[in-house]
Amino acid sequence: MFHTAFLDLPALDGAAGTVDLPGSKSISNRVLLLAALSEGTTVVHDLLASDDTRVMLDALRQIGCTVDEAGSTVRITGLGGHAPRSPAKLFMGNAGTAMRPLTAALALLGGEFELSGVPRMHERPIGDLVQALRQLGCLIDYLGNDGYPPLRIAHVQGVPSLALTEPIRVRGDVSSQFLTALLMALPLAAGTQSIAVEVVGELISRPYIAITLQLLERFGIVVEHQNWQRFTIVAGSRYQSPGSVHVESDASSASYFIALGALTTSATGQKGIKIQGVGLDSIQGDIRFVEAARAMGAVVTGGPNWLQVERGAWPLKAIDLDCNHIPDAAMTLAVMALYAEGTTTLRNIASWRVKETDRIAAMATELRKLGATAEEGADYIRVTPPANVADWKAASIHTYDDHRVAMCFSLAAFNPARLPVRIEDPKCVAKTFPDYFEALFSVAQVETSHIPVICIDGPTASGKGTVAAAVAQRLGYRFLDSGAMYRITALAALRAGFAIDADHEARIATLAQTLPVRFEGGKVWLGSDDVTEAIRTEEAGMNASRVSALPAVRTALVDLQHSFQRLPGLVADGRDMGTVIFPGAPLKVFLTANAACRAERRYKQLISKGFPANIDDLRADLEARDARDTSRSVAPLKPAQDALVLDNSDLTIEQAVEKVLTWWQERQPFAASAQR
Ligand code: DC
Repeated sequence: MFHTAFLDLPALDGAAGTVDLPGSKSISNRVLLLAALSEGTTVVHDLLASDDTRVMLDALRQIGCTVDEAGSTVRITGLGGHAPRSPAKLFMGNAGTAMRPLTAALALLGGEFELSGVPRMHERPIGDLVQALRQLGCLIDYLGNDGYPPLRIAHVQGVPSLALTEPIRVRGDVSSQFLTALLMALPLAAGTQSIAVEVVGELISRPYIAITLQLLERFGIVVEHQNWQRFTIVAGSRYQSPGSVHVESDASSASYFIALGALTTSATGQKGIKIQGVGLDSIQGDIRFVEAARAMGAVVTGGPNWLQVERGAWPLKAIDLDCNHIPDAAMTLAVMALYAEGTTTLRNIASWRVKETDRIAAMATELRKLGATAEEGADYIRVTPPANVADWKAASIHTYDDHRVAMCFSLAAFNPARLPVRIEDPKCVAKTFPDYFEALFSVAQVETSHIPVICIDGPTASGKGTVAAAVAQRLGYRFLDSGAMYRITALAALRAGFAIDADHEARIATLAQTLPVRFEGGKVWLGSDDVTEAIRTEEAGMNASRVSALPAVRTALVDLQHSFQRLPGLVADGRDMGTVIFPGAPLKVFLTANAACRAERRYKQLISKGFPANIDDLRADLEARDARDTSRSVAPLKPAQDALVLDNSDLTIEQAVEKVLTWWQERQPFAASAQR
């Protein structure tokens, strides 16, 4: 997952391959609650690991359910008619799928609870649900603004006595989650009598209710409905665990990859995008995004658990669509509209205004930044793509803590103007798809030369390793410590019994070419040996310097170093990154510091690790190493012609990092206002 302030996507050329999608958020959180209310233990397979399921799991533990997690399999033993543990203060983050149904269930179960969330959750309405629960006799108070969380469910001794003879009326036109919440809670009260719920106003997002009904049935509850307006929970309904449940992949998450298949062709002739974990027979309403994508030109085929998407019409065809049945996935259509001929109108999407953010306003604002024309109404959005390639703009996309804004705008990286796209706060995708960008990069294709590289070269102990790693971390880029390659080669050579000299050059080069090196979790592995510490000694550094003077060894290590240039970008540190390995890099920094300062830094480093050290010896060693690295015939240490020299003798690490980042920002095409 990318924890950076922003993630820059370079212009992407194409995409092909297979993606496995995470479990559906809607199904995951419903199944968790149903399991918690049931008698018996439920094993939930393929549960989505995300912020929203995390808050639900934590809440269920707090109210007394037993929850065992093992990877994506979670085992829950439900309350099964027992009272929940109370009082409890439950934090719901920004998870509507946890806030609404838990409020209803806890109000009916009885006990004293406070439910709160992030500030945005306190702006998302819950009044219609609370009103319906109050009709029943539940005691619920608002702790902030009327109609919004946070709220308190008051103490009621035992199971509250409820007014169940009259139908319970609930509005259906703000969020279908209110009805879902009631339908999941009311079976707790359905003893000998049936309970009726009547929807007031038009019911939006009907497919989500269909998911609720399907899952209720799996847990032993039969609900009949008349025309989606009146729902009856049949008398005698009782929650019973089905034993085990598999969560299908998220159909809304699939929309980004369906769009990707529709937008792109593959540079390598591979065909389209295959999506695993969700198929055409999905119970999720957003699977009907497939129809909308087809209408825009996508060629979609599929089976029970997979979809295959290829580009059909190109440019895409503009559509005018009522999106009430696919509210979440429809956001993806708004970005696909950038690649369509003409104006696309998405209608009946008023619910967007009360989601993670005001999604109509957010989408319109961000689409405009890219150069599109976007018109917003109370319940529609109309998108016309930039008229010409030259009208596209490099945009920094604000994501409003809304996972779907972040995910759908990543598709703008396929723009014909070949402009990069900046996604701010990329970690917000964790709400439903923590590894979204990794999944995108696993299928996205880009000419290697378009993947940005920042080179940081310099003499030994200049701080380049620390600075380069920090810059990589801040940008979410990969990191190449090329010195480690030479250090490992020297170690491998000595272990193989070769002296490091010209006589053994060919054999050491052969060794270097097939070096079984892996960088994993901050450790360096040579085959099955952890050599992290062994390559860091002064002696290992000196041996590396000697091995690096052998031209055949340098050549042998070129491919390995190039293989680090992968999406979304690379920061490479060494001696010849800018001069030899990545000569086309858009930013080259030559990081230096005076010898006294470098000797002192190295001294502190060694002492802090518990190694004995003498500052004068260290200084003599590093001057000798500089002399050898600078004077060797091949790829000597020197600044590239276009390198920016940064003497960091008097800078802190953070100041040096900031300087490099500032130089990098200055090279980006994003509007100055977007940089922070
Ligand atoms: O950066 P370092 O101290 O880990 O590098 C060890 C040696 O490897 C260094 O003395 C010179 C050599 N080296 C090189 O020749 N070219 C590079 N790109 C990186 C390191």
